[in-house]
Amino acid sequence: MVEHCFWEAGVAGSNPVIPIGHLLSKLMKIFLDTADYNAIAERYQTGLVDGITTNPTLVRKSGVNYLDFIKTLANDFAFESISAEVDGETYDVMLENANQFLNIDPSITIKLPLTKEGLIACRDLAMSGIKTNVTLCFSAAQAVMAAKAGATYISPFVGRMNDNSFSGVELVRAISSLYCAHGVETKVLAASLRDVHHVSRCLMYGANVVTLPPAVFDKMYNHVLTDAGLAIFEKDFKEING
Ligand code: E4P
Repeated sequence: MVEHCFWEAGVAGSNPVIPIGHLLSKLMKIFLDTADYNAIAERYQTGLVDGITTNPTLVRKSGVNYLDFIKTLANDFAFESISAEVDGETYDVMLENANQFLNIDPSITIKLPLTKEGLIACRDLAMSGIKTNVTLCFSAAQAVMAAKAGATYISPFVGRMNDNSFSGVELVRAISSLYCAHGVETKVLAASLRDVHHVSRCLMYGANVVTLPPAVFDKMYNHVLTDAGLAIFEKDFKEING
């Protein structure tokens, strides 16, 4: 079964539509979108983090050496995927840059821009069995090209779509539907997520993976009614237990 196919038609007029995603929750992945080692280590303890995405901006902000950082992550944690982004506008520079990350660990996923050169590099890496994450996706048409290039992951940027008055979650829905219709195995990795509402929407709309800044990951636990309910239960426990 292709993992994007999250809707199963119910019998007309009787059963409601069944979200197959519920049955496949083990396939629903959460990555952290950060280059902050301590933030990763703290949340890794929960057992709820499946992978890491990084980008040059996050690495610049954290002040780490990119290659050393990726090596440390691969050494210290058991993630299924660690995205390391290549620098360069040409195929040759991208592959040269990718080479420094290869052979570190099977989890290493080469992150390439959604450009013609980036997709040619993606195709060749994919043909060599290397995992790839095609980043900076803003249209279903681009996602088609990434799938044709054999990308392991496609990263639609939800928040940056919203910043520009387009619906990021609708983009995720369009790509997931398109991949489902054509049996595409490329996984939809919803990126540029800034709030928990968009995270759950993306998963409802067929994203296989969501990558979250640590602060958004932390907010996934929270609800004001949980806090209010807990306060009442704590008070009642005190009375029960004297
Ligand atoms: C994804 O791979 C990117 O690193 C990231 O999600 C971009 O998020 P931003 O648009 O909030 O910078």
